[in-house]
Amino acid sequence: MDFDDTVDTLDLFSTDSKDIALDPRPVFDESPFVMDEPEVAPYFRSPHGAVYGEDCNLFLQNIKDEVVDTIFADPPFNLKKEYGKNSNDNLPPDEYISWCKSWIKEAARTLKPGGAFFLYNIPKWNVILGAYMAEELGLEFRHWIAVDLKVGLPIRNRLYPAHYSLLYYTKGRPKTFRKVRTPIATCRHCGGDIKDYGGHRKAMNPKGVNLTDIWTDIPPVRHQKYKSDKRKANALSSKLLDRVVEISTEPGDLVIDPFGGSGTTFAVCEAKHRKWLGTDIDFAPVIKHRLQNDLYLHQNTDVLDLD
Ligand SMILES: C[S@@+](CC[C@H](N)C(=O)[O-])C[C@H]1O[C@@H](n2cnc3c(N)ncnc32)[C@H](O)[C@@H]1O
Repeated sequence: MDFDDTVDTLDLFSTDSKDIALDPRPVFDESPFVMDEPEVAPYFRSPHGAVYGEDCNLFLQNIKDEVVDTIFADPPFNLKKEYGKNSNDNLPPDEYISWCKSWIKEAARTLKPGGAFFLYNIPKWNVILGAYMAEELGLEFRHWIAVDLKVGLPIRNRLYPAHYSLLYYTKGRPKTFRKVRTPIATCRHCGGDIKDYGGHRKAMNPKGVNLTDIWTDIPPVRHQKYKSDKRKANALSSKLLDRVVEISTEPGDLVIDPFGGSGTTFAVCEAKHRKWLGTDIDFAPVIKHRLQNDLYLHQNTDVLDLD
């Protein structure tokens, strides 16, 4: 896919764009993970990964079988949102589901035994796609994580939708599951504990509480850089990706994301020394720019508990 790097992307950023040719850092070699004689080539390589500017299915078809440790996918939700010129977020429901099944199947093929598959979407689609992953692809259900984000408007005759679904499956028994703890929640005004621990407060682990399957502490991304009218690449908080990566991978493992957007997954992998491969049909230039400049990472107070 060809990109016009000057439109909607690099011209929005005033910081100096480093030329990769002058960058002394080593660049990633994707050849152990892609098919021999691949049909597509990366748009940009960083020290730890490579981004393609291709359709998700074409990208995935070029990844070898069972080489990936973790997949993270945050596709368009079919909510008529405008992304770039090559994506369509307004498909008939059946078509949207079949399209999702096509790339989910291809992605699952690339996963190592025990590897993890995280799928972020609205509950309406994830309930169908989750059943497909279990029944048709034989993946093992781990969690439906509710990511509390009140961003929408109330809908008539419905409950107020207040969470996104983050499905977490593995290919058989998980090969990596690292325990994450979050700080004991305190009141920002008085500093006291928000929850009552029923007399067991002193016995609690000082590293924090076990992460649950309801995530209420993921900030929305509101920064100007990510919300400009001209800037259509979507962005999740890096805190969400930080968790996904910490829970399911070790340094040096390979993560793939077939819907790169603004490159959040790749920025986290870069910072955490995970290998990564990904694509975005419209925003590869935006991802390149982020990886060459500010990774734009949110603060994360999670604690990894490897004891
Ligand atoms: C919800 S956004 C992903 C945001 C990303 N998780 C982040 O935090 O930056 C979905 C992305 O999928 C891309 N996209 C849509 N259709 C695609 C396709 N067929 N293949 C690859 N990317 C596609 C869009 O350009 C958009 O950037």
